Amino acid sequence: MAFRHQHLLGISTLHPEEIRAILDLADSYADQNRAGGPREKVLAGLTQVNMFFENSTRTQASFELAGKRLGANVMNMAMQASSIKKGETLIDTALTLNAMHPDLLVVRHPHSGAVNLLAEKVNCAVLNAGDGRHEHPTQALLDALTIRREKGRLHRLSVAICGDIAHSRVARSNIFLLGKMENRVRLIGPPTLIPAGAADWGVEVFDDMAEGLRDVDVVMMLRLQKERMDGAFIPSTREYYHRFGLDAEKLAHARPDAIVMHPGPMNRGVEIDGTLADDINRSVIQEQVEMGVAVRMAAMELLARNRADCPREVWA
Ligand code: NCD
Repeated sequence: MAFRHQHLLGISTLHPEEIRAILDLADSYADQNRAGGPREKVLAGLTQVNMFFENSTRTQASFELAGKRLGANVMNMAMQASSIKKGETLIDTALTLNAMHPDLLVVRHPHSGAVNLLAEKVNCAVLNAGDGRHEHPTQALLDALTIRREKGRLHRLSVAICGDIAHSRVARSNIFLLGKMENRVRLIGPPTLIPAGAADWGVEVFDDMAEGLRDVDVVMMLRLQKERMDGAFIPSTREYYHRFGLDAEKLAHARPDAIVMHPGPMNRGVEIDGTLADDINRSVIQEQVEMGVAVRMAAMELLARNRADCPREVWA
């Protein structure tokens, strides 16, 4: 089954078969990346521009590496130094870039919906690298690939997503993806960090870790996103760690073979115990980073193929 989209803006608009198509291709890239050796330069001759309006370490590096491995010309726009700072609007920046005819545009932006808006104004393929608290599709896909490789399947699993759900695009994209693939999702966090209406997403909501983690297969921890909080959502980080920080004792409520995930960057001692995060018998945090490159290679290849199949004017 083909993946027939011009852009990758979110998980909510993807069909389960399309999710499978990306994961299958990414799976073969993950094996190739481990094996090393020459790769087919499927993005040769294409220009990939990375526009990050918000700080990023692993996502930007991962997109850059993915493009370079497949032979694309990759350019990182220094958004801090760009004309945005001089007052240019997002749309003007987009139109300026569009006139340079990039093929793939990777965008991260602090405002929810900004990447979708930008995608309407350009002819190239746009990949959402995270917009506000809206979506972060490649993160959910890399999480899904990690789970599928660890558990041997991506359905009928019980997954707990814990912590700052309200501010998290990672949580939203994962809730969509895991639901579409027929898994059971539990959200665990203090009521102040669970968005209103979460119960309508087909998930179960808990405010107690022991109860919420009972017999789950996967424990996904989230960073406390202080930069998105405009008030006090928790009494103190110490109190938060005590109630919601994942340590060996709380993890004991999950299945004995449950895996621990975190999208990074981690606040050790706030949402997760440092020793547990480094425990290679339980934590798959490094595998997540590894799968990130493979998923981004696959996503960019599929979008580039769609462009090649379709004349430029159709995208306009
Ligand atoms: C996440 C993000 O930026 O949304 N990180 C990431 O992409 N690896 C999560 C976070 O910032 O906490």
